Amino acid sequence: MLTMDSKTQNCAAQYLPLAPVSPNQALLPLTAQVNNLDYLAIGGCDVKTLVERFGSPLYILDEATLRTACRVYRDSFAQYYPGESLVIYASKAWSCLAICSIVASEGLGFDVVSGGEIYTTLTALEQGRGSGDFSQKIYFHGNNKAKEELKLAVENAITIIVDNWLELETLVEMAAEESKPIGIMLRLTPGIECHTHEYIRTGHLDSKFGFDPNQLDSLFSYISKQEKLHCVGLHAHIGSQIFEQQPHQDLAHVLVGWLKKATEIYGLPIQELNIGGGLGISYTEQDDPPSIEAWVKGVATAVVAACKENNLSLPKLIAEPGRSLIGTACVTAYTIGSRKVVPGIRTYIAVDGGMSDNPRPITYQSLYRAVVGNRMSAPLTEKVTVAGKHCESGDILIPDALLSETKAGDILVVMGTGAYNYSMASNYNRIGRPAAVLVNEGEANLILMRENYSDLIRQDRLPERLL
Ligand SMILES: Cc1ncc(COP(=O)(O)O)c(C=O)c1O
Repeated sequence: MLTMDSKTQNCAAQYLPLAPVSPNQALLPLTAQVNNLDYLAIGGCDVKTLVERFGSPLYILDEATLRTACRVYRDSFAQYYPGESLVIYASKAWSCLAICSIVASEGLGFDVVSGGEIYTTLTALEQGRGSGDFSQKIYFHGNNKAKEELKLAVENAITIIVDNWLELETLVEMAAEESKPIGIMLRLTPGIECHTHEYIRTGHLDSKFGFDPNQLDSLFSYISKQEKLHCVGLHAHIGSQIFEQQPHQDLAHVLVGWLKKATEIYGLPIQELNIGGGLGISYTEQDDPPSIEAWVKGVATAVVAACKENNLSLPKLIAEPGRSLIGTACVTAYTIGSRKVVPGIRTYIAVDGGMSDNPRPITYQSLYRAVVGNRMSAPLTEKVTVAGKHCESGDILIPDALLSETKAGDILVVMGTGAYNYSMASNYNRIGRPAAVLVNEGEANLILMRENYSDLIRQDRLPERLL
């Protein structure tokens, strides 16, 4: 096995994680190694063999990295927060049965945002190896929840994170028909806005989510009169891929101030504060997020301090990370195909996937790093632009990627593709979504099947008059 030393400085092996590293700070999954054939191996499985066995493109998810991230979050809260705490997985990052089952078995709860995510989570809990009673561990988000979705949540004792007045009134009507009160939290817009490296505080936030804090009095007053709504907590989420610690610490102070008002003036039975998700990950070596442990410590310390200042007992503290739990646990392996040299300008290499399996570069201009997974110790001598295969000039996965020399048939491994890749994938150009495999200690298991041509027309109907 190759390890990091002077020989690996100018080759893909430089991206191997240096132990110990927080999962959200690693570029490659924690188990990444280079085997004696010079192939990248993850979870003890080399990427070349995985592609031969499961096809390409292929999402390769490292179970150990995902489990480690869950444990570090959970254990850090236990270490730094003296009150009760719960980490819930923002399953929008990647929701499927196997992932929900792993996360549940680590004792985390779930943030779900649609009937589909509720259904997936509940099915995983029913069929997989979850742990214990999840009725207090699932929280339902959304700025325009359908009545059927709310009904599904209520039937399954899922706490509803209420986003707006219409939803609140709908729940009051629904609760009248229920024997037990409906458990809710309130999503508030705290006026803290984050853009990865910067944040601003404003009185208002121009966001489609959550209640305007200027309406707090009327909101708390209204809820205090609803006997069939049991308001257990307050929630705020300030953004994603955040590297600074201060915004969440400021948020802790804002939320605790609101908690005081809700309990002391309006007598609401609030015992939970949900600080949202948002901790960033390293997509490139330029990214420098705090570790999960440092982030949790900062948040926990801020909540404890704010409660002390306000003379309040500690609430149950909830965080709902997505990206920092699963982002770096997965890589996508592609097969390199055509090459186009535009003299004096750039060289394109094309892969067999692109914007349909990873829409983040075209949507957010997100940056990624890649390695040639079957030649890990070759020197990085080529600057090329990695293009997808879709009929769209903007379908560029990585502009100016620094790679070793490549040829058709090589395996290109793009790092950090666990969050918001499969979950945002599409069938653009009628391309099937790739398969996903879970790797662990040399074993590889299919967790999502590749979509084939018949899957692509499964929902199509030809009206009789066109036959
Ligand atoms: C309400 C809410 N909570 C949690 C998350 C998860 O955020 P992240 O993946 O950045 O941790 C999101 C993502 O946008 C969100 O909207």
